Amino acid sequence: MEIIKVKTLNRIYSIYIGNNITEKLNEYLKENIKDVKNVILISNEKIFGIYKNKIEKIIKEDFDFKKIILKDGEEYKNIDSLKFIYSELLKINAHRNDVIISFGGGVIGDTAGFAAATFNRGMKLIQYPTTIIAQVDSSIGGKVAVNFENTKNIIGCFYQPHLIICDPQLLKTLNENEITNGLGEIVKYGLVFDYQIINDVLSLINTYKNDENRLFKIISDEKFKNIIYKCARIKSKIVEEDEFDLNKRNLLNFGHTIGHALEKVVGFKNLNHGQAVALGILCALDLSLSMGYLNKEIKKSILDLYDILKLPKFIDKCDVDEILNALKFDKKFVSGKNKFILLEELNKPVIYTDIDEKLIKNSIINLIK
Ligand code: NAD
Ligand code: GLY
Repeated sequence: MEIIKVKTLNRIYSIYIGNNITEKLNEYLKENIKDVKNVILISNEKIFGIYKNKIEKIIKEDFDFKKIILKDGEEYKNIDSLKFIYSELLKINAHRNDVIISFGGGVIGDTAGFAAATFNRGMKLIQYPTTIIAQVDSSIGGKVAVNFENTKNIIGCFYQPHLIICDPQLLKTLNENEITNGLGEIVKYGLVFDYQIINDVLSLINTYKNDENRLFKIISDEKFKNIIYKCARIKSKIVEEDEFDLNKRNLLNFGHTIGHALEKVVGFKNLNHGQAVALGILCALDLSLSMGYLNKEIKKSILDLYDILKLPKFIDKCDVDEILNALKFDKKFVSGKNKFILLEELNKPVIYTDIDEKLIKNSIINLIK
């Protein structure tokens, strides 16, 4: 098992990363959190449906087990789900030393994390990510939030977990769409911070190149765990340097400026987060080219990579002006000025403000089939 320590202002916590470490959940819980009585698992119908027998049995061996099960989907990352969690926590009579385990992808992590941050002015929180995006990104660093009136992550706060348990074997039950979704976020780490990560993914793909189920094969491979570890380590370091997203942490939002706007306009149901980010990355690459950075060959090689990873390169149709308008709701949009993360070169990100709207528009038009 690999362990990453994350040092933040109010908390130092561990990320445990290892295949099948779920078996040792109770041991890790006792090691990291004192005097636990109730363990309250927050998950959704789909994930709990798959892992119910395993996780419930393990926790019940040592603790009082309670559960709060939400409906599945980004559209349930909202205040109604929070109200439901708060009511259930009241019914359970949850106290501050009880532990909330957020067991799921980024939607559960963000929603349960915000509930844990606010109920009783803060409860013990274990992030237990079950998607690639959640394992490499969303469970780390304490950003917790829900959407409100079709605006992403607009009600939220920073609340660092007490422990993160990352078992890549849980990824085996993801469907192909969700694997692709996660690979989009991994590509982000590769382009912005460490291109070797992309080479690692390509080498894994190459290992299984004749296998129709290669996406499933790669996520079960021990080497994929190392890719997750590399991404988690990058994220942890950035969080340590800029916990409250005032500077360097912005770099993690490469591809997210237009990605979030696409999610808002196209609708959370039709485009998942990783796909939206993958498309946003293409816009960021076009904007980088417009600024005289990178070169067309690099963009072409990234498009080839998208084909291999089955990432989207286009959206069917959408209203460009609506997307431009949606950009104004981005949290990085300050005093009427947009903020984009561009690449001067591979692994050389730069934060750019107030880019000409015409260039942004063109980059979005390039996405339309
Ligand atoms: P998600 O949580 O909706 O999960 C995707 C789908 O996979 C869901 O249907 C879910 O039920 C299912 N699923 C989860 N684990 C599974 C498993 N092991 N087996 C089978 N199915 C499983 O989406 P996501 O991609 O994990 O996360 C996206 C969300 O994360 C967005 O809301 C985004 O805003 C947020 N996010 C937050 C941060 C942050 O720093 N807090 C960072 C990145 C993304
Ligand atoms: N995923 C963006 C961040 O954590 O800052």
